[in-house]
Amino acid sequence: MTMRNAIAALIFAVPCALGFSSAASAQQAITIASWGGAYAKSQRETYFEPFSEKYDVQITDVVWDDDVNAIQRQVLSGEYQWDIVDAQQDTVLDGCDLGILDPIDYGLMGGREAFLEGAALQCGICTPGFLVASKALLDQNSNPSEEEIRWWLAGNLCRCTGYDKIIRAVQDAAERINAGS
Ligand code: FES
Repeated sequence: MTMRNAIAALIFAVPCALGFSSAASAQQAITIASWGGAYAKSQRETYFEPFSEKYDVQITDVVWDDDVNAIQRQVLSGEYQWDIVDAQQDTVLDGCDLGILDPIDYGLMGGREAFLEGAALQCGICTPGFLVASKALLDQNSNPSEEEIRWWLAGNLCRCTGYDKIIRAVQDAAERINAGS
């Protein structure tokens, strides 16, 4: 899946899901649509600029008003301008109703239980990004090693739990997938 296609294929729940470090490294440039103002300024300083500096990826952030029509136009035309979108929950649900966004099929990840039972979240701010990134990994490799999981998720930040529980949750999700549950 290319990053340009990701906008159509994945849900980006509130707030930002910056979960495509592997693809970003190959592309070297990503565009993020967000809500502007102080929120975007804080994203820029906290996430985008450090990520850009560390991985040598050019990040352009643009302002959008959470109007699902802006996503729909890109999907229908095939002219994707954004790689990652901050979207409110209602906008995401509207996108699903319009058929331009697909909800994550947790069944393909072994169910939500892998993250919930593993206590792989506290505040949950980082969870959408980890889920999206984990799904992308498990879609192409249902039996990743711990090292592969750590590399794949390296672009995602969690300020609460530490990463070991998240890594174990992805391993658990992989086991559930391979067990067919
Ligand atoms: S659970 Fe709070 S940032 Fe990850």
